[in-house]
Amino acid sequence: MDTRIALLDGKHIVLGVTGGIAAFKSADLASRLVQAGALVDVVMTGAATEFVRPLTFQALTHRPVALEMFSLLQETDIGHVSLGQRADLMLIAPATANTIAKLAHGLADNMLTTTALACRSPLLLAPAMESGMWGNPVTTANMEILRSRGVCTVGPESGRLASGGHGYGRMSEPAVILDAARWVLGRNGRLAGAAVIVTAGGTREAFDPVRFVGNRSSGKMGFALAAAARDRGAAVTLIHGPAALEPPYGIMAIAVESCADMERAVLDSIGDADALVMAAAVADYRPEIAASQKIKKRDDRLTLSLVRTSDILSAVAEQRGAGRRLKAVIGFAAETRDVLDNAREKLTRKKLDLIVANDVSAADSGFEVDTNRVTLIDASGGMQTLPLMSKTAAAEQIIDRLVAILER
Ligand code: PMT
Repeated sequence: MDTRIALLDGKHIVLGVTGGIAAFKSADLASRLVQAGALVDVVMTGAATEFVRPLTFQALTHRPVALEMFSLLQETDIGHVSLGQRADLMLIAPATANTIAKLAHGLADNMLTTTALACRSPLLLAPAMESGMWGNPVTTANMEILRSRGVCTVGPESGRLASGGHGYGRMSEPAVILDAARWVLGRNGRLAGAAVIVTAGGTREAFDPVRFVGNRSSGKMGFALAAAARDRGAAVTLIHGPAALEPPYGIMAIAVESCADMERAVLDSIGDADALVMAAAVADYRPEIAASQKIKKRDDRLTLSLVRTSDILSAVAEQRGAGRRLKAVIGFAAETRDVLDNAREKLTRKKLDLIVANDVSAADSGFEVDTNRVTLIDASGGMQTLPLMSKTAAAEQIIDRLVAILER
């Protein structure tokens, strides 16, 4: 499966690694960046090499690792100025209190701090240190200085620290740092200034306090759409049903349970939105009665009476026009037969600009899996059939179509 992410593909990332135990996680981060298509130049401080060998990064990135300021080879080939000049993003993970202090005050006493000073790209820091160091007013002040100059930060998180203690200072996980890097790189993209609502996951319709009628949606497709819209600079609100996924970095997530909850959240946010992408698998029926106490096992048979839920897209369609900001609505059609005909019918009935026809009968497409096979049908009948691809790649294509609708 293609693991590239459009925003990172071919981008030059300088990954600075400083001397903290979290440096071992940066090997995973370097690998993820490379898999996403980035060209990763690692710069290590001397202390970092005490934790992880440069060879580890060289093997993962297939590029030389910069260590020495005064090495002739490195100064001509990947010297601090040239590294800084070609970087699209400089990312320092882990960033120790010591390096943060140096950056705040413009010190340039090693290859990493010199590169950072020479760098014209955005700078993203993933701090990692003992909670006492993180809580020290001098570190707080240094972070303030850096933030006021536009430096971006991700973490640290609260959790178990290398010392065995608990508290703030734990470096964010590599997946989160990668996501934060996408957020920084995409800030000025083609959706900058646009507010996009994405729905994801399945809804649960309760019939007693512990049981519900639900579906198999994992949220993967909708979460990937939210990340793709964020990567293009949109302010994203992700309204999602119960899911085992962490919401992408840099978006606002609203967790809901039932169709009624999701409808309320969508209608509450729609007034300020430019676009809505409904990837959620919303229940079409709900139990007529939800018992207030757990239903006891008494008879051989339990009959549930189901009634229609309200259709969120139709409710949105009623509110379109009349001075509303909303310019684009994209829906999905999850079908097991007559996929295109059913999708076209929903496109018209729900007054959509684009529908994503999703054949959910194949094992490698639709619910739960990481891949999808979709056909995009627009309001004028235009059709684009995409081959089997990752949900991340499908989301990129769908959001590119959203960009085109908003720009027309
Ligand atoms: O979450 P994953 O595991 O990654 O799976 C992804 C997916 C298969 C759920 C996704 O790709 C998908 O197809 N989502 C739409 C599922 C669906 O409910 O389709 P539908 O054909 O029943 O609904 C048509 C459209 O109306 C959808 O955009 C749906 O969000 C919307 N709808 C449905 C019911 C309802 N009461 N209100 C709605 O607005």
